Amino acid sequence: MHPAQQVSGTATVPGDKSISHRSLMLAGIAEGLSEISGFLASDDCHATLRAMRALGVTIDQSSPTQVTVHGAGLRGLKPGGHALDMGNAGTAMRLFTGLLAAQNFDSQLIGDESLMKRPMERVALPLRQMGAAVTTAQGTPPVNIRGGQSLRGIEYRMPVASAQVKSAILLAGLYAEGISTVIAPALSRDHTERMLRSFGVRVDTEDLTVRLYPPQVLQAQQLQVPGDFSSAAFLIVAGLLAASNAGLLIQNVGMNATRSGLLEILRSMGGNIEVQNRRSAGAEPVADLLVSKSSLHGIVVPPALVPLAIDEFPVLFVAAAAASGESLVSGAEELRVKESDRIAAMSEGFSALGVAHTVLPDGMRIVGRGDGVAFFGGRVDSRGDHRIAMSFVVASLRAAGSITIRDVTNVATSFPDFGPLVRSIGIDLNET
Ligand code: S3P
Repeated sequence: MHPAQQVSGTATVPGDKSISHRSLMLAGIAEGLSEISGFLASDDCHATLRAMRALGVTIDQSSPTQVTVHGAGLRGLKPGGHALDMGNAGTAMRLFTGLLAAQNFDSQLIGDESLMKRPMERVALPLRQMGAAVTTAQGTPPVNIRGGQSLRGIEYRMPVASAQVKSAILLAGLYAEGISTVIAPALSRDHTERMLRSFGVRVDTEDLTVRLYPPQVLQAQQLQVPGDFSSAAFLIVAGLLAASNAGLLIQNVGMNATRSGLLEILRSMGGNIEVQNRRSAGAEPVADLLVSKSSLHGIVVPPALVPLAIDEFPVLFVAAAAASGESLVSGAEELRVKESDRIAAMSEGFSALGVAHTVLPDGMRIVGRGDGVAFFGGRVDSRGDHRIAMSFVVASLRAAGSITIRDVTNVATSFPDFGPLVRSIGIDLNET
């Protein structure tokens, strides 16, 4: 990839990954036909789709983004017959662990090399407290689930603010006796709660506590998946670093406040992002964003915003490297257990591209170069992590020479048309 001067025009982001996974799972256990529009046709979501089909749910895809699910009902899932392969998708594995822990058949969940190293006891532990028989291989997959257990609702205090853990408990709670309560240390994305309510389930939220009342049935729904804020994040930072005078317009961006923490962070760095045309897509808020080129300055990122921007730190690190002065991210140790160790992966790339930074156990201190060139050209390794790969594509906008990124096929796990889309706004990206 060669350094480009400007990005401009209009870009529309693909469907939200978190919401696409959840829509298949909930529609699959509902009564009747659910229509999903705006579905994210990515590798991760296809792993969930294949698993739901293996579990006996009929799913038609009239186009890549338009999906019809013939709900099997709460008790209608059938044994998968083989290990269910979640690919690179941590969300799929953790949410399926909750859903399958409550079925009357056994299941095994496996994944790719990255997923097989990720922590799964964080979901297995509370599920065992509910009465489930879930085991891991010393904390990591394969996840083995023995079916036929009767579950009971628990009150669980989550040690980390994880939407995946919360969601796994809520999915198991659909089948439990009594109320399931999850108390979080901080806010995390609430798509599961919103979607369960659309399917007719009683879910009460009060501050950091969520309570689910087990339903008799879930009623099929028309579901609209909004654009993924986490995919928009790469375009937002690209616009701040290099938009032409007319700015960069990003359409159909999911604006759920539990996801959009990056906007607040970038604005406090001096980023000019105008929110236009606020509307809703089903249970979720959506807007268009007009991003102008901005002189960014470093900040101390408030730790309370970390879970609300958890997937956006790689590209935020790029913004910080192109800001003037120092930025500090702390309280983000969860970055160590994402698709890669994102602190280590970004640090390695920054070292190759000449960015002054210090690695912290739970974050990074970054000394930005300010306006103008912020990165040397060079070679970086994405470590097979889609968000690391896309972040270094954005860095190329302020690089002195071309940046070559290794191991980029996993971009298709969340943003299948990233290449053509960033080329259409002016980024000189070649894929080999
Ligand atoms: C997700 C929750 C987050 C996030 C992940 C998607 C979800 O993970 O990083 O990409 O869809 O629930 P944690 O729950 O581990 O924070």
